Amino acid sequence: MNAIPKDSRLRYHCQLRQSAAERRADTHPLTWRLREDGARVGLEEYRDKEGYRAAAHALEHCSSADVIDTMKKANVRGRGGGGFSAGVKWGLTQVGDHLPRGYLVCNADEMEPGTFKDRLLLEQLPHLLIEGMIIAGYANRSRFGYIFLRGEYVEAAHSLAVAIEEAREAGWLGSNVAGSGYDFDIALHTGAGRYICGEETALISSLEGKRANPRAKPPFPGQSGAWGKPTVVNNVETLCNAPAVMRHGADWYQGLSGGLSDDGGTKLYGVSGLVERPGLWELPIGTSGREILERAGGMREGHTLKAWLPGGGSTGFLLPEHLDLALDFDTIGQHGSRLGTGLLTVVSERQSIVSLLRNLEQFFARESCGWCTPCRDGLPWTVKLLQALERGEGEQGDIEILEQHTTDLGPGLTFCAHAPGAAMPLESALKYFRDEFERGVTHPPRTAHADPIPVGEV
Ligand SMILES: Cc1cc2nc3c(=O)[nH]c(=O)nc-3n(C[C@H](O)[C@H](O)[C@H](O)COP(=O)(O)O)c2cc1C
Ligand code: SF4
Repeated sequence: MNAIPKDSRLRYHCQLRQSAAERRADTHPLTWRLREDGARVGLEEYRDKEGYRAAAHALEHCSSADVIDTMKKANVRGRGGGGFSAGVKWGLTQVGDHLPRGYLVCNADEMEPGTFKDRLLLEQLPHLLIEGMIIAGYANRSRFGYIFLRGEYVEAAHSLAVAIEEAREAGWLGSNVAGSGYDFDIALHTGAGRYICGEETALISSLEGKRANPRAKPPFPGQSGAWGKPTVVNNVETLCNAPAVMRHGADWYQGLSGGLSDDGGTKLYGVSGLVERPGLWELPIGTSGREILERAGGMREGHTLKAWLPGGGSTGFLLPEHLDLALDFDTIGQHGSRLGTGLLTVVSERQSIVSLLRNLEQFFARESCGWCTPCRDGLPWTVKLLQALERGEGEQGDIEILEQHTTDLGPGLTFCAHAPGAAMPLESALKYFRDEFERGVTHPPRTAHADPIPVGEV
């Protein structure tokens, strides 16, 4: 495959900003094999760079339980946003030998606003993902693996299709993988471009050919997922950690964070917004927002930082005073937000929080699957109120209604985490920037007979 045209990579900021000299096998397990020219790493080159040795070791020398145990000890936490331990998740499908073998699904939907990390791995290092899937599939006894890929990721689709074929021809996929007696193959499934398909149970519905509605849990996918079989859903970056863990061990992985965090490993961090050099970096997990911002060259000339989202549109705003926090799951959770995907979106003092939020909530309203009332009706209502405030035509009481929505859209009141995710930036914006909302209130309160329920298109 040819090198990805430079312009297209810059357009999406999907560029690793670390040179090959900076990326070493013992410190950068996710990216050390990447080429400087951004082209896909083919099978031969991947093998020359220690590729498939971890899978060979796992298949030859470890039982499924050994692999799960190592992943648990390493405490690889899910990089799709939730931070759930991959080893624990893999173990959930192990309850009883009588269970039918199920499926492993790689979540490559990546539609979180401001997130572009999986794309790098999918386009340029597809064999690392395949190797991670072989290890995960072996550990949780999957009969088959699927990669559920965001439809717009056309270059990634091509790259994965070529790599799957290469791996199959080399005996790494199919019957009797590498002579181990384990049968495992992978199919690439491209989605049609809906954010809700990234939610693991909606993804499973879509994979089965149904409308992408989330499913009530329990049962969890590990008990009953795709076609009723035990199913493990993991993010691309999570799975790409497995080969290094199996090759170098749990202690080595834990040590990668260098004391910056109780979590182990590295993280693909990134920045977008009005910074000098948006992009991606593989850094020890627990690196601070300040260091990442500095690596991005700081704010663009003429701009100062007002706020930042730590990990995508569905995380809560943080302030400049939070820049020294360790960017890990627990620390950011303790400060009212979420690590999410770990890709920062910065907001300049010259940008309106109300407008930015209106734009985000418009996205969330459009992407609601419509299954539950607070999300289906509450999000468009939120957008209407924000639009009015943005125009300076808000009415007294609008801010209080928005506050009520942060409760109504909160955890436990909807089928899936889409609505609580949409409520996070709203709640934090009201907490930190209430004056900006108040400036949009210019009208008296609504009259009793006015219909508060929004109608029409958002
Ligand atoms: C609305 C919504 C969208 C999501 N989109 C993604 C996504 O694009 N990629 C992803 O890996 N996880 C996404 N998730 C999280 C998944 O439901 C799931 O937790 C994750 O794939 C599990 O993988 P992990 O344990 O490796 O993080 C989304 C969740 C929600 C609620
Ligand atoms: S919260 Fe929203 S996206 Fe999730 S199931 Fe309910 S309506 Fe659908």
